[in-house]
Amino acid sequence: MSDLLWQKPGVAVDAQIQAFLAGDDVLLDREFFLHDIAASAAHAEGLHRIGILGGDELGGLKRELATLAEDFRNGDFVLDERYEDGHSAIEARLTERLGDAGRKIHTGRSRNDQVLVATRLWLKEKLARVAQLSREIARVALDRAEAEKDLPVPGYTHVQRAVVSSAGMWWAGWAEAFIDDAIRAADTLRLVDANPLGTAAGYGVNLRLDREHTTQVLGFARMQVSPIYAQLSRGKFELAALEALGSATLDLRRIAWDLSLFTSTEFGFVALPAQYTTGSSIMPNKRNPDVIELMRATHASVAAARTEIEQLLSLPSGYHRDLQASKGAIFHGFGRGLAALELLPALLANLEWREDRLRAAIDSGMYATDVAVEAAIAGVPFREAYKAAAASSDTAGQGRTPEGSLAARTSPGAAADLRLDALRARWEAL
Ligand code: ARG
Repeated sequence: MSDLLWQKPGVAVDAQIQAFLAGDDVLLDREFFLHDIAASAAHAEGLHRIGILGGDELGGLKRELATLAEDFRNGDFVLDERYEDGHSAIEARLTERLGDAGRKIHTGRSRNDQVLVATRLWLKEKLARVAQLSREIARVALDRAEAEKDLPVPGYTHVQRAVVSSAGMWWAGWAEAFIDDAIRAADTLRLVDANPLGTAAGYGVNLRLDREHTTQVLGFARMQVSPIYAQLSRGKFELAALEALGSATLDLRRIAWDLSLFTSTEFGFVALPAQYTTGSSIMPNKRNPDVIELMRATHASVAAARTEIEQLLSLPSGYHRDLQASKGAIFHGFGRGLAALELLPALLANLEWREDRLRAAIDSGMYATDVAVEAAIAGVPFREAYKAAAASSDTAGQGRTPEGSLAARTSPGAAADLRLDALRARWEAL
């Protein structure tokens, strides 16, 4: 391993203890190494602005940081156990290439604000992606709601047949859900969009660091003011981000559950394109919907990451190494969550309804509520009308059609008017 930044003369490093301290930290740091490099360049600029670095030194640092980023991207530089962590690797590389300029890069910063700034930059990108994907999912759902507005689908409560519904209603429900998820992700992005660089170890530093400049160069909306809160917010903003992601993966879990039911032989309402299914190693007849099942499983990873971080935050103020353990959780949670959300728009766009099966699953009992409400409109007290419809629920629906039932509830002005125009307007405003 390269020299530890903090090593004391005469104190030997115990390999087993060092391995425990390191864990897989340096490998995790690969995830936001490019963000750490970008923040290092901004910090160098800031140091130049207050005279800590000369013009040549800044030029050299910016050049070498750009080269390091390039080498990392194309695999010529591998971030591995040769270094304690990604932060040390940057300083080691700059020192190796530039000598004193490299040895100056850490002036006025701590790995504590370094890891914070890299995490916030990384999370901003991920939250933007969650918002974008939620918007995309909502778009597919809205388009299909418009196209399949009148296709009858049985509506269930308690997984028991309840009332006539439609593909339009089903899709519109998911469209509205994912619009909310997009808003949640964008709101959380605003919370995360604050620059901690310059707060050092959590108590500031005796330098006139140009924090406004690094805030602007790194594209943050604002500066994190309190150095104490910069550290206190670690874990907390990751938790908020996982909650925003979790809002989308929770909806994903529920839509995947619907599709798991709807694609079963017993329901048979939906056919999935073959590439979303797998086979069995022993049962030649099987076509299993593994993709939607793993989509459904995704929320478990997000929720687990949230729980892990929440448990870590049982700490007094100030930096503690415990906080390092939040990184694995956040990377894993976002890794799984985004991988699943990325697949959803195309899956939804390509699923096919089986109209014959949908119509066959609508029985006359599903008109009973319509019958009772119609009697109430005619002046019968609703409770009486309800009893009468219950007594004749097998026959009350005779002569009725799914289209008629839907029209009475979903036509313009009716209580369940789909209002796809209003949803579309909300979507446009995202
Ligand atoms: N890997 C560390 C973390 O994620 C970086 C900060 C180390 N700071 C320290 N004082 N040891 O928290």
